[in-house]
Amino acid sequence: MQHLLDIEQLTKNDIEALIQRALYFKHNLDYPSYKNHTLATLFYENSTRTRVSFELAAHKLGMSVIHIDIARSSESKGEGIKDTLHTLAAMGIDLFAIRHSTNRLPELLAKNCSNKGVHLINAGDGQHAHPTQALLDMMTIIERKPDISSLKIAMIGDVRHSRVANSFQCIAKKMGLNKPILIAPAIWQPETVHYGQTTTSLQEGITDADVVICLRIQQERLQPYEQLELTQYHSDYGITSKTLTWAKHDVMVMHPGPINRGVEIDDNVADGAHSFILQQVSNGVFLRMAVLEALII
Ligand code: CP
Repeated sequence: MQHLLDIEQLTKNDIEALIQRALYFKHNLDYPSYKNHTLATLFYENSTRTRVSFELAAHKLGMSVIHIDIARSSESKGEGIKDTLHTLAAMGIDLFAIRHSTNRLPELLAKNCSNKGVHLINAGDGQHAHPTQALLDMMTIIERKPDISSLKIAMIGDVRHSRVANSFQCIAKKMGLNKPILIAPAIWQPETVHYGQTTTSLQEGITDADVVICLRIQQERLQPYEQLELTQYHSDYGITSKTLTWAKHDVMVMHPGPINRGVEIDDNVADGAHSFILQQVSNGVFLRMAVLEALII
């Protein structure tokens, strides 16, 4: 694998191997050292989890890590991302985690990259895909509920603008899961359903769910006519201790973050016994170690 651009490019075996390797890293501290490799994080959108976990993952594998401060880079003088990438590659950087607001930009950059020693990772592109998030979400589910084939998984919120929802549907299909239930108000229903069943009813969607995945409202991607009143949204779609009683007694509550407390999820659910939100974050480091390794070996 030269690049990791989306879940579509992976087989079920690839996904299982990455998750198994991530679980190995989680439980064993004898990490290999890849000190001849350097990761650059090129983030054109803000991030806490993805950027830091890529950087930590690279550090744990003995790699050098360079965070490119885009605002202070020569892009402020008119240089484009393609030239930034080629310039950094010419210095010997071989791994790039790229986040950008343009759908499929990492794919376009990969097509223009003739250097076989350069590896691009899509760290989230626009509304299109977030493959490492889907992998860490699947890892977190498998860890807790290994019999994944019969699970009822519900995703709730702004499905329409969610690269997390897109990549999760793809990984659910690849792994042979039931179709996730995509729960959203009419205005945030997905334009394209990759693998899922849609409903506008929270109660119908999460009744007997094994896993409930909340989604952030992606305000930065909403058109003015797509705005909803947040108090009303919380009342209709918020995951609270009351709405969670509709799901299974051992339901896992997940959220890719960043979370908006009191909007898509209440404090006592986000911090409660059913919450796996911080396990997702922890798993993200190990999963990204597995991805970095898979690209260079
Ligand atoms: N889940 C996720 O992508 O979070 P960040 O935006 O903080 O990286």
